[in-house]
Amino acid sequence: MTGAKGMLGKDLMDVLHSSFFRGEVIGWDIEEIDIQKEDDSVAKIEALRPEIVIHLAAYTDVDGCESDKERAFAVNAEGTRHVALAASKCSAKMVYLSTDYVFDGEKREPYLESDPPHPLNVYGHSKLKGEQYVQEWVRDSLIIRTQWLYGPFGKNFVDSILRQAREKKTLSIVDDQTGSPTYTADLAKAICELIQVEARGIFHVTNSEICTWYAFGQAILNLSGIHWVKVLPMSSKDLGRLAARPSYSVFNCQKLKKATGRTMRPWSEALKDYLSTYRQPSADPMNR
Ligand SMILES: NC(=O)c1ccc[n+]([C@@H]2O[C@H](COP(=O)([O-])OP(=O)(O)OC[C@H]3O[C@@H](n4cnc5c(N)ncnc54)[C@H](OP(=O)(O)O)[C@@H]3O)[C@@H](O)[C@H]2O)c1
Repeated sequence: MTGAKGMLGKDLMDVLHSSFFRGEVIGWDIEEIDIQKEDDSVAKIEALRPEIVIHLAAYTDVDGCESDKERAFAVNAEGTRHVALAASKCSAKMVYLSTDYVFDGEKREPYLESDPPHPLNVYGHSKLKGEQYVQEWVRDSLIIRTQWLYGPFGKNFVDSILRQAREKKTLSIVDDQTGSPTYTADLAKAICELIQVEARGIFHVTNSEICTWYAFGQAILNLSGIHWVKVLPMSSKDLGRLAARPSYSVFNCQKLKKATGRTMRPWSEALKDYLSTYRQPSADPMNR
């Protein structure tokens, strides 16, 4: 696996170690393999003769990609081509993690895997190019598009809201982007299930049910017992991020259900689980 020390990578390593997979699981991150270096990456992966190459490594700073297009394409597109080339040389299956940002959000019903992509930002373009390289080079590939990830092993929206709630009395959160927050632990299990049923092609995989970032933020505070912080809706335009984001980023995950026989649980249940497992309920700072 590449990107093994990232937010999803750590959860996926845990699930792979404890699951069906009887072979050896090897997780690499940038210290072991820099996917930008073609010859080195191909040689290192080839030497392992893997059965499956799971490729998570990416430059995931969406606004950073906008200001450093060269790095975005070097890592997310060309880096993925190097990994795909190695997988094809070993006749390995390749699993590639991609994003809802391959779509523009103009559709007003859930996106199907077969819908034509049209990214709005550099990150989306670079990840889509990665998808195309995987499809071009690898005969047996599984492309999993997901979104709005949070989990215990990386910087994420949930922890950022909890941190800001300790520092401010009012938070403004965008209410004009809709999607499905997805818990890395749930996604890791779904990835393993798809591998287990030998799924191929593109799959949309998120926790079920939808919300805006604003509603997600409110749920984080409510479930954490933080009632003294006021939450105000704001527009993406007012937030002024460098990269444009799709306003409607909702996936149809029926293909996942058909392949594995199950739907992922609603995002609110997963959030409850995450908060109760990893984050302590907060006390009102005024009452301490
Ligand atoms: N996070 C989301 O909401 C989201 C949504 C949709 C899809 N995805 C996709 O899901 C996958 C996992 O995401 P994540 O949030 O777990 O990402 P992450 O936490 O940023 O992990 C990515 C890992 O890749 C490493 N990496 C960066 N450049 C590399 C290079 N040149 N060679 C080798 N490794 C390199 C990073 O190392 P450094 O930390 O040292 O840079 C990091 O450990 C990614 O492919 C991402 O595009 C994520």
